Amino acid sequence: MPLPAAQFHDLRDRCILVTGGGAGIGAALVEGFVRQGAHVAFVDIDEAASRELADRLSVEAGYRPLFIHADLRDIEALRTAAETAAATLGAIHVLVNNAARDDRQPLESVTEESWDESQAVNLRHLFFMSQAIAPHMRRAGGGSIVNFSSIAFLLNMAEIPAYATAKAGIIGLTKSLAGKLGPDNIRVNAILPGMIVTERQKKLWLDETAIAAMLEKQCLKRSLTAEDLVGPCLYLASNSSMGMTAQTMIIDGGAL
Ligand SMILES: NC(=O)c1ccc[n+]([C@@H]2O[C@H](COP(=O)([O-])OP(=O)(O)OC[C@H]3O[C@@H](n4cnc5c(N)ncnc54)[C@H](O)[C@@H]3O)[C@@H](O)[C@H]2O)c1
Repeated sequence: MPLPAAQFHDLRDRCILVTGGGAGIGAALVEGFVRQGAHVAFVDIDEAASRELADRLSVEAGYRPLFIHADLRDIEALRTAAETAAATLGAIHVLVNNAARDDRQPLESVTEESWDESQAVNLRHLFFMSQAIAPHMRRAGGGSIVNFSSIAFLLNMAEIPAYATAKAGIIGLTKSLAGKLGPDNIRVNAILPGMIVTERQKKLWLDETAIAAMLEKQCLKRSLTAEDLVGPCLYLASNSSMGMTAQTMIIDGGAL
């Protein structure tokens, strides 16, 4: 990954927690924060990919981020992971709620169980992780929470009713948390990525036709990759955006 052009000096030695940091956009974010000189922990369910990332960064960047294995659908495991991160790194100043799973599911095949499962993997943990980390941010004198939503819920995408609902819910959650935590100097913003060509997306959904159709809609005629999310997330995490909370930032190459 090329180094991000900008250096956010206030992020040096900051304590950062990223969920879903083992692969895709999350892995690029972990790397981006490490390269800012921050102290980074990340939570993921994928043991192999996460260990590989931590190993690679310890060689390439000279710093080994702390990988915490947990399933974020399990709220007790999530709380333990939050406490482990804070006990090991120190008071967490930045939380990036990034983990999700964009399973396709046609209307007819949605069950009560699959609906709840989608909310658990795409929405519920963002609230409970924010709840668990907020006391540590107060201890740090403030902080920044960045929630990953998606433009998918604005596109009338037929095959993702539960995922789209969760991603829309994240906007409401972002605004409510911003209202509650603002007096404690904790900012809460959301990023809405467009089509980001990651390994999982290529393997599961993005064939050449789908990519061409999205490029047709985008103003920028190139596919966005995970690295395109790093700069915006670093900006929201850093003091450079210190007057900004309860906002949404769309990174989609101008597709909407
Ligand atoms: N890739 C895109 O085109 C795109 C578009 C819009 C929004 N987004 C959003 O960006 C974020 C990152 O997406 P991505 O494409 O990098 O996804 P990804 O699937 O490549 O990575 C997600 C990571 O989260 C982890 N994870 C999933 N479920 C977990 C669980 N229960 N507990 C712990 N970890 C878990 C996975 O193991 C993986 O490492 C998500 O919030 C996604 O909704 C992505």
